[in-house]
Amino acid sequence: MPFSNLTPSALKQIQPTIQRFTKMLANIMQLEVEIVDADLVRMAGTGPYAKSVGVTLNNYSRLLRHVLESKTEKVVVRSRTDPMCASCTDRSNCMEKAFIGIPILVQDVCLGVISLVALTDEQQKRIEENNREISDYARHISTIFVSKIVGVQSNADELTQMLIGLVDHMDQGVVGLDKNGQVKFINATALEHLGCTQEKIAGRLVEIEPLTPTKIPTQGHSQYIFSFADKQAIISGQMIKVHELELFLMAYHQSPLTLPEGHSQTDPRVQHIIGESPPMRALKALIARIATSPSSVLIRGESGTGKEIVARAIHQLSDRQQQAFVAINCAAIPENLQESELFGYVKGAFTGASATGKVGLIQAANGGTLFLDEVGDMPLTLQAKLLRAIESREVQPIGSNKSFPVDIRIISATHQNLDDFVAQGKFRGDLYYRLSVIPISVPALRERKSDIDLLVHYFINLHAKRISNAYPGIAPDVLEQLRQYNWPGNVRELSNLAEYLVNVVPPGELIDVSLLPPSISPPQTPRPTEKNKLQETQANFCEPETGTKMLKTMERQIIEEALFRLENKKLVADELGIGIATLYRKIKKYGLSNFGD
Ligand SMILES: Nc1ncnc2c1ncn2[C@@H]1O[C@H](COP(=O)(O)OP(=O)(O)OP(=O)(O)O)[C@@H](O)[C@H]1O
Ligand SMILES: [Mg+2]
Repeated sequence: MPFSNLTPSALKQIQPTIQRFTKMLANIMQLEVEIVDADLVRMAGTGPYAKSVGVTLNNYSRLLRHVLESKTEKVVVRSRTDPMCASCTDRSNCMEKAFIGIPILVQDVCLGVISLVALTDEQQKRIEENNREISDYARHISTIFVSKIVGVQSNADELTQMLIGLVDHMDQGVVGLDKNGQVKFINATALEHLGCTQEKIAGRLVEIEPLTPTKIPTQGHSQYIFSFADKQAIISGQMIKVHELELFLMAYHQSPLTLPEGHSQTDPRVQHIIGESPPMRALKALIARIATSPSSVLIRGESGTGKEIVARAIHQLSDRQQQAFVAINCAAIPENLQESELFGYVKGAFTGASATGKVGLIQAANGGTLFLDEVGDMPLTLQAKLLRAIESREVQPIGSNKSFPVDIRIISATHQNLDDFVAQGKFRGDLYYRLSVIPISVPALRERKSDIDLLVHYFINLHAKRISNAYPGIAPDVLEQLRQYNWPGNVRELSNLAEYLVNVVPPGELIDVSLLPPSISPPQTPRPTEKNKLQETQANFCEPETGTKMLKTMERQIIEEALFRLENKKLVADELGIGIATLYRKIKKYGLSNFGD
């Protein structure tokens, strides 16, 4: 129906026409004219009615109200004697001597009133003698208004239809949501990306949330979790607001990825730990369960699996979250300094000690959490001292004869096998049991390959945002290769690779397999494996006269790339199949010392 969008305020759409006709009508009829809308708002007027256009009229406008409500014409040839005026308390102040009111009607809807008013005796006489002709003329004007409104409406309808047609044929997926999140329209491309039909989604409530929550509004595409019913998908695109509508414009390149069912059931407090594989879900559930306990936690896992983010999540979820989280990396601090770092010292405690003394990390963590990273590297003498401190719940700084009570929760982490260390006498069994009251194991990435897609998207999104690049698409065969790869450096390696890829992908292009470093691409025959390649290269280096510059460059690149990706020299040496000493020699030779630990 053409008037489907007709509202009582439709007259506003033709305000200029109304104003023009008001003046014309007043000139021809030699009367004053006033036009109001359905809410008694003055739309136009002449003489004293020219003032206060846009204002809602008061209760004394009985005649206008009567026309609006009854939707019929009203002619009053002598105002004060008309029964409708007889009961008006404002009668003595009324300057109107006669009145003709014509409703502006569209079907059964009254949009307003055209009124012609006599203020002088002459005008009153004119109405009295010619009221039929005047009414006919005003009625004619009313039909002009109506046809004008219908014209505007159908133009708007035409425009809407044209836009909907345009959106429907776009190669870009578009979803329009109202302010409640209900799907108002969705085009064919969007349905294809979502693998869904119009019937299933039209009018349904959906949620579109950024995968990486950020406070900074970003331009370009980002990753969104698109949820409706019990389905979820990661879609890259951008949200824009147009009037009342939220438009989700999908990126042209989408990776075919659906989140595992039940993604939203993840405890929101550990949602930044990405991974929905069964072991990761179990890990997140465990973190949430044990976070509030005061017992010590020992986190094990290979390098780069996320031990530190687990430790921080436990602290964040505990009731110590407002207190300090103090971390010490036992592998990074020389053995002889670890004691003073952990326990602190008083002034003059030893040669070289600061004149003011120093508060130790255990004391600094009082009330909070102490994170002993790489605890396997703690020297045995210090282990004994730490055990004493844990058991007595107090610390004695070096050189002090006073002890200070401390209340700390200890979370330790190690990539080493502490059972073996205990067996070999490298780690104290009693401390080990103290530290591992709650043992937590973070699985290696190769043991949870179903998380790879999610992590790749997460890190590409994260790093693209960090360097303010638009989110690049990823070719499906890239994802396939990443799933095949073994990930010796675990999540850290994947994050570094994603960072590398967002840096090297040309703007607006897809990340394709040509951008993957050779170590990640599957070995192709007769292409040698990285290990062989390096051995080949080494062989050539043994014979300087045959070693070419190209081979040197290649070796340097391979080592450099592996150091950047794995950030761990032991892992690099293992991957390349060379001894750690050889690796150090080559790092020195190529000046690559600023990589990794
Ligand atoms: N599940 C995950 N979700 C999001 N980011 C992760 C996840 N796991 C690891 N990371 C990220 O990978 C990097 C390495 O993680 P982290 O430092 O916690 O590893 P680690 O196990 O402590 O490694 P190492 O043994 O080498 O110290 C960090 O940048 C971390 O934020
Ligand atoms: Mg760590």
